Amino acid sequence: MGTSLLIVAGSYRRLGNCEMFAKDIALRARADSISLLRLTDFALKSCTGCYRCLNPEHRCRVQDDLYFILEKMKGFDGIIFSIPTYVLGPVGQFKLFADRLACMAVFQPDFRKIRAVSAIFGGIESWRGVTQSLVNAVIRMMGFDFRGSAFIEAALPGESLDVKYQPVAQGLADALGENSAAYFPCKTLQCPSCGSDLFFIQDGRKVCVLCESSGEYRDGQWIDYRDSKRFTARGFVEHFEGWLKPKVAEYSAQRERHRSLRETYKDIGVWIKKEE
Ligand SMILES: Cc1cc2nc3c(=O)[nH]c(=O)nc-3n(C[C@H](O)[C@H](O)[C@H](O)COP(=O)(O)O)c2cc1C
Repeated sequence: MGTSLLIVAGSYRRLGNCEMFAKDIALRARADSISLLRLTDFALKSCTGCYRCLNPEHRCRVQDDLYFILEKMKGFDGIIFSIPTYVLGPVGQFKLFADRLACMAVFQPDFRKIRAVSAIFGGIESWRGVTQSLVNAVIRMMGFDFRGSAFIEAALPGESLDVKYQPVAQGLADALGENSAAYFPCKTLQCPSCGSDLFFIQDGRKVCVLCESSGEYRDGQWIDYRDSKRFTARGFVEHFEGWLKPKVAEYSAQRERHRSLRETYKDIGVWIKKEE
């Protein structure tokens, strides 16, 4: 049976690093079919924060291409997220997509069957900011079988195809194979639970910024490490069912109080709008 791969490219640039490097991965993975989805080819609007999508029977009411994109992601053997850093974080179109995460819960049974890797780009490695950790957290939360991720320092379009990145492309291609080993090369300390490289320091402990797992890190070892298991099926249920849904119910129960608060604040200040 042939292997089908989908490339999700975050950059607006045609034949830039996101597109060409991901195509190189797909060729190395010997995919029989390669499909491409450029996030900037689609309309993605802001999440309105209504929480309607917390009920799996309710679709998001925002009229844009989100569900078209999600439907198109189904059915592949593998998916390559190829996302550039823009101003220390993932490019804005990816964040617009990620903000709609709660709508994606109903797609998890399909996404669980799909192996995923990410290729993250930045012009200067030390300017990469939060991109890789954030993109990878979203891939995990969408439910994909997450197999690998690498950062590629490439400023100009095509730099990622430099010979020194060929082993990286090969590593990601191999990770997309059935029953293959995971591939997460990283030069800095990673959270053992979610792989993020972002930490707060609190009371002498390193606390993962994304999943809140924590521990002390001494002489190359984690001590008293506490795994939050946030990015597990149980972690999601705890967050969405155990915290977020009761929180929304709390808001509904206090409807009168919120109405009076809105009454107090609604006419303060003048909104700046574009003239017709
Ligand atoms: C508006 C803009 C902002 C960028 N910000 C960063 C940044 O903060 N850090 C970084 O390392 N690279 C930054 N870059 C560089 C891109 O991440 C890099 O060139 C990447 O390879 C672009 O991928 P593409 O060729 O597929 O468009 C920025 C590029 C642009 C156009």
